[in-house]
Amino acid sequence: MINQRLHSLDTLYIKTYGCQMNEYDSSRMIDLMQQAYGMRLVAKPEDADVILMNTCSVREKAEEKVYSELGRYRLLKEQRPSLIIGVGGCVAQQEGERIQRRAPFVDAVFGPQSYHHLPQMIARIRRERVRLADVEMPEIEKFDHLPDNKDGLKQGISSYVTIMEGCDKFCTFCVVPYTRGAEISRPVNDVLTECRRVLDGGCVEITLLGQNVNGYRAIGPDGEEWDFTMLLYAVAELEGLQRLRFTTSHPIEMNDDLALAFAELPVLMPFIHLPVQSGSDRVLKAMHRGHDRAQYLRIIESLRQHCPDIAISSDFIVGYPGETDEDFEQTLSLAREVGYDSAFCFKYSARPGTPAAEYADDVPEAIKDERLQRLLQLMKELSHQACERQVGRELPVLFEKQGRREGDLQGRTPDFKIVHCAANARLIGQIVPVRISKSYGQSLRGEVVVR
Ligand code: SAH
Ligand code: SF4
Ligand code: F3S
Repeated sequence: MINQRLHSLDTLYIKTYGCQMNEYDSSRMIDLMQQAYGMRLVAKPEDADVILMNTCSVREKAEEKVYSELGRYRLLKEQRPSLIIGVGGCVAQQEGERIQRRAPFVDAVFGPQSYHHLPQMIARIRRERVRLADVEMPEIEKFDHLPDNKDGLKQGISSYVTIMEGCDKFCTFCVVPYTRGAEISRPVNDVLTECRRVLDGGCVEITLLGQNVNGYRAIGPDGEEWDFTMLLYAVAELEGLQRLRFTTSHPIEMNDDLALAFAELPVLMPFIHLPVQSGSDRVLKAMHRGHDRAQYLRIIESLRQHCPDIAISSDFIVGYPGETDEDFEQTLSLAREVGYDSAFCFKYSARPGTPAAEYADDVPEAIKDERLQRLLQLMKELSHQACERQVGRELPVLFEKQGRREGDLQGRTPDFKIVHCAANARLIGQIVPVRISKSYGQSLRGEVVVR
C-alpha cells in the first residue's frame, strides 16, 4: 500500500573510488539493489533515483574529494527532493555521522562492513524520511547477507572474489586497519562456492582479493585450518577457470610454498603485486612493515627461482616522515635491483588517526615532488624495459574488450600487460596466441597468430 505513495526506485548510479575491494563491494551493492528493488544501473547521476558513493580514504584530500562531489549531488537533490543519496566505503567508516552534519542532504552513511543493510536502510529512509548512519563492524556477517546471484546474472570475463578483508599489520602511515577492521577470512567453502558461481556465469579469470590475501587463514572443508596456498590449489582445480590471480599480498606473509605454486599451477598467472613502500631499512622499520630490504629481496629471489618469467609490481611512498636523501636513494636502488615491471608511487600524506600523523610531516613538499618525479622516471624506464622484453614473443592473450582504435581488441598477457591487437570481436573472452610486435612503453601491440 505504502509503496504506491512512494516515488519509484528504478535507477542507480554508483561512483567508486579506491582499491579493487571497493570495486568488488560496489558490484555487490549493485547486486543487492537489483535484487531488492529491481534497480538498473545508469551512467549519469542526473538519471538516478539513488546515488551511492563508495569512498576511499587511503590518501590525502580523500574527504575533500567526497564533499566536493557531494556538492554536485546536492544540486540534483534540490531539483528532485525524492533523490536518495548514500555514502559508503572507507571515508564513511572514518567520518560516520560527521558526513551528515556537514552535508545534511546525505540520506545514508554506511561502512564497508555494513553495506548489506543498504536495502533495509533505503526502505526506512523512504518510509520514515529519516537520515541513517550505520558504520558498525560486525564480524564479516555481510557475506552471509549478500545475494546469491543464483539467477545466473551475467558475469564479466574477469571477476573479483573477496577472500579476506581487513588488516592487522598497522603500518604507521595507513588508515586501512581502522576503516576495514581486523583481518577476517571467509571460509574455504564460501570462497569456492562464489568462484563456481562466477565461472558458471561465464567468467574465465578470477582475481582473489584481500588487503593481505596471503594472510588468509580459514576453516577448510576438512575442518582443518587452510592457508592461502592451500586455497589457491583448490581454486585452481575449478572447472572452467583459465586464469587465476590475486592481490594484494604482503611480504611478511610470503613463503616458499606460495612461490612454488607459481611453478606448479598452470592457471596461476606469473604476476605478483608485492608492495615494499621503501628500500631503506630505517624507513621500513619506522613504517612498521615487519621486514627489511634483505628479506624482501630474498622473497623476490625465491619467486624468480620458481617462476623465472614472473612480473613484479609494487607500491612506493616517498617523503615518509624523516626520509632522508640517502633513504630515498635506497628506494631507487631497490627498484633497480628488483627490476619491477610496474609500480604505483605516492607522496606520503598524513592520514587522520594513524600513528604517523603524530609525527612531523617534515619532508618539504618540493622535495616530495622531486623524489616522486625521480621515482616515476625510473619506473617508466623499468616498465619500458619490461615491455621491450616481450617484443617478438608469442603470448597467450585473454581478450577483454573492444580497444580504443576501431577494429582493435584489448587484452592481457599472462604477466598482466595490456595488449592492443586487431582482432574480431567474437574473440572477446577467449585466450588467443598473439605475436607481440611493438612496445608502447607501458603497453604492447601484437598480431593474432593464425596457424
Ligand atoms: N595492503 C596493501 C596496500 C593498501 S593501501 C599493502 O600492504 O601493501 C595501497 C597503497 O597506498 C599502499 O601500498 C601505500 O603505498 C599507499 N598509501 C597508504 N597510505 C598512504 C599514505 N598515508 N600516504 C601515501 N600513500 C599511502
Ligand atoms: Fe595498510 Fe600496511 Fe595493512 Fe597494507 S599492510 S593495508 S599498507 S596497514
Ligand atoms: Fe581505499 Fe579503503 Fe581500499 S581506504 S584503498 S578503499 S581499503
